[in-house]
Amino acid sequence: MPFRTIIEPFRIKSIEPVSFTTREQREKLLSAAHYNLFLLAAKDVLIDLLTDSGTGAMSTRQWAGVMEGDESYAGSPSFDHFKHSVQDIFGYKHVIPTHQGRAAERILFNVMCKGGDVVPNNTHFDTTRANVEFVGAEALDLPRSEARQPGTILPFKGDMNVEALEQVIARVGRERIPLVMLTVTNNSGGGQPVSMANARAVSELCHRNEIPLYFDACRFAENAYFIKLREPGYADKSPKEIAQEMFSLGDGCTMSAKKDGMANIGGFLCTNDDVLARQQENLLILTDGYPTYGGLAGRDLEAIAVGLQESLHEDYLRYRIASTAYLGNHISERGVPIVLPPGGHAIYIDAKAFLPHVPAEQFPGVALAAELYLEGGIRSVEIGSLMFAKAAQMELVRLAIPRRVYTQSHIDYVVEIILRVWGQRERIKGMRLTYEAPFLRHFTAHLEPVV
Ligand SMILES: Cc1ncc(COP(=O)(O)O)c(C=O)c1O
Repeated sequence: MPFRTIIEPFRIKSIEPVSFTTREQREKLLSAAHYNLFLLAAKDVLIDLLTDSGTGAMSTRQWAGVMEGDESYAGSPSFDHFKHSVQDIFGYKHVIPTHQGRAAERILFNVMCKGGDVVPNNTHFDTTRANVEFVGAEALDLPRSEARQPGTILPFKGDMNVEALEQVIARVGRERIPLVMLTVTNNSGGGQPVSMANARAVSELCHRNEIPLYFDACRFAENAYFIKLREPGYADKSPKEIAQEMFSLGDGCTMSAKKDGMANIGGFLCTNDDVLARQQENLLILTDGYPTYGGLAGRDLEAIAVGLQESLHEDYLRYRIASTAYLGNHISERGVPIVLPPGGHAIYIDAKAFLPHVPAEQFPGVALAAELYLEGGIRSVEIGSLMFAKAAQMELVRLAIPRRVYTQSHIDYVVEIILRVWGQRERIKGMRLTYEAPFLRHFTAHLEPVV
């Protein structure tokens, strides 16, 4: 870049006010929400970094597409726009629209898997894992060994461990592995990218064993840009060319268009297999809708058709990746422990290292997330012992950045608040559970500070 300042590659045409609260008000609001940020009203949050899913801002072209959406039940031209846009990037023969990513996952695993099967992935996202397990199959994570070391800096920390995959195929047999998945970028592994070399090695191994490879493509554009920046031989290729090359290595994909589809809702499932596509469409009709809308309105299909292409614009990706890295680097330089290097869509603070005096049973991630809200009205999410109980590998707080929503001054504010909380970390207390639901407890749990 010829200049240091990160500028948003857009102007603002329509604004949405955010509401300021005092610390005293936030103390009352947090206590009423039982120290669980999911239970806060969004209007009481100043900067909402809970998720980057479905929270992005749409462009004027997307809004124009919304107005042009054709709501015919069958054969809508909006479906044709959507299908052409998806095929232009992903290249797969069949495109099945779904209402979001997990609906695509449910259909895929219902059609391809049965009890006793094994589905390897670099790291399953939680809905992916749940949908694999729902059909009685085993969801197996095979990340590279360094993926769980927050401080280790590698260009492609999201890669799959190819040797481990080879061993799994030899151990369980290819008949019990109906497909392999590769999640780009690896969300649960810190938003880290997967290299083209790794995708190619996984693809070759799968195809040698006649196992189909599917991508979980949610953040494919961010992944493509990391390849352009970091992988030898890709600097002169466009993000779109890189994405096309990556998807040519697979047999299909699932996608949540709420991420790099730049839309507020939607998703899709793609496959090259005619027989599977027919079965998938039949399941879609049962629960989501007719195959030319799949649970979406025609206007949603138009927004996704445009959004997918916009997510690959280089000006946008340069800003997106630089802005996330800016947040990560500015707090990391001052000693705040984070998962390094900064990922594409989020910064993950290592709450265990941030609060070494708070044991895992006292939920350091929840305590830190609560403090960021109290100090500055920032909402983040714990990814640790509250979310995963005994299966937690790390104690993280994720700050996910919605696409095209916050400006650099908002990001500067987030840096300021995190550094302030860092300066007062010794006085932050752990938390105790007072209520938990039997499953997915983090959404509804009640907690209180340990006195
Ligand atoms: C990697 C990954 N896969 C799948 C999903 C599920 O998508 P959705 O929330 O649209 O169901 C998500 C959502 O966050 C994700 O990050």
